[in-house]
Amino acid sequence: MPTATLAPSIPFFPYPQVFLSDREELLRIFCDVGERGAFILQQDLQRFEGNLARYLGAKHAIGVANATDGLIIALRAAGLGLGRATAGGEIIFSSHTMVATAAAIHFAGCVPVPVECGADHLIDPAAVQAAITPRTVAILPTQLNGRTADMAALGALARKHGLAIVEDAAQALGSRFQGQCAGTFGAAASISFFPAKLLGCLGDGGAVITNDASVAERAIALHDHGRGSDGEVRGWGLNSRLDNLQAAILDFRLAKYDEAIHKRRALAARYQQQLSHISEVVLPPPPQAGSVGSDPASLDHFDVFQNYEIEAEQRDGLRAFLQAKGMGTLLPWGGKAVHQFHSLGLTADLPRTEKLFERVMLLPMHVWLGETEVDRIAAAVAEFYGARAPQFGGTPAGANPTCTNHDRDERGCN
Ligand SMILES: Cc1ncc(COP(=O)(O)O)c(C=O)c1O
Repeated sequence: MPTATLAPSIPFFPYPQVFLSDREELLRIFCDVGERGAFILQQDLQRFEGNLARYLGAKHAIGVANATDGLIIALRAAGLGLGRATAGGEIIFSSHTMVATAAAIHFAGCVPVPVECGADHLIDPAAVQAAITPRTVAILPTQLNGRTADMAALGALARKHGLAIVEDAAQALGSRFQGQCAGTFGAAASISFFPAKLLGCLGDGGAVITNDASVAERAIALHDHGRGSDGEVRGWGLNSRLDNLQAAILDFRLAKYDEAIHKRRALAARYQQQLSHISEVVLPPPPQAGSVGSDPASLDHFDVFQNYEIEAEQRDGLRAFLQAKGMGTLLPWGGKAVHQFHSLGLTADLPRTEKLFERVMLLPMHVWLGETEVDRIAAAVAEFYGARAPQFGGTPAGANPTCTNHDRDERGCN
């Protein structure tokens, strides 16, 4: 009896691909670094830091162990928190972020103040304005899902009230607002190289970005036992260095990173084309100006689509329906905004964000995803809502056979 051929499953994020897609080159890098015994603070790290800073149009990039440490270091190097006049001061952030954003504020010795996000799911400048008090010392926007917040509005507020800006750019390498890269707007910023991030390494990794030489010098000391670039101990410090091996891998990947952005923007445009007729879902802003490859400097928002975050009616039913078809999805942060983790003792009442979290979910978005897979996902979403077939539907043939369901890590691309 003939058996029906099942379409391959579509994992939310295919973790093995982080290694397998560049297997030969990564093994070569591993042997090269290993044979040189170049593990900590070596030339590969220096080269990567230089290339990353150049890529962002920033003066300094300092590799750190992960973006959470990077945020703590960025805040403290920017003169905020412990041992400063700003200790105990309030720092405003969007509650739609990873708990790491608020944890960094806490561990830097300041008070996290969560606020609402706007229609694009990023921090709402009007909510920031309303939350400013005499105790506010900084604004910490999360450049969420590969999009940069309205930094003109946030910059104006910061100038008006004498506040610092420190960016959580964990999800936003290469994303721009009015031509300027995320991570370069404030006193300092932090980027993540977690494997599922835009530029992922084979473990944890991050970088602190700044244009200010004295902030950079303090960050260098804070991430390396208090030692300045001349090796002299200048004060208390952590050990939060990016491994040289990870830096070598990241440098190899950074050289071809523009292709990855192009691919993500093309996939986002495809989702937009395939899903925009379904009234039950709200999609993120599409690549602006309708042209995936347009000059990033010419756009207000150049989004790099770390995630593809939608709002959906009957969200849980849709997720179960897609799961039954072998299509992985993810709830951002496990389904709660930061202020909803009651154990943290944050008392904010943020009805818009709470409503959003009843509807929000992430569809697969990564460089190994094919357009045919986007079409299959879109067709399944349309089927769930009983909508007409997507106008430009493709065939499911040719789905990536190397995608197996390794969606074990519930952190996914968050
Ligand atoms: C918005 C945001 N902030 C901070 C972090 C923390 O990054 P890391 O895991 O590198 O510490 C992440 C992701 O993990 C994130 O998505």
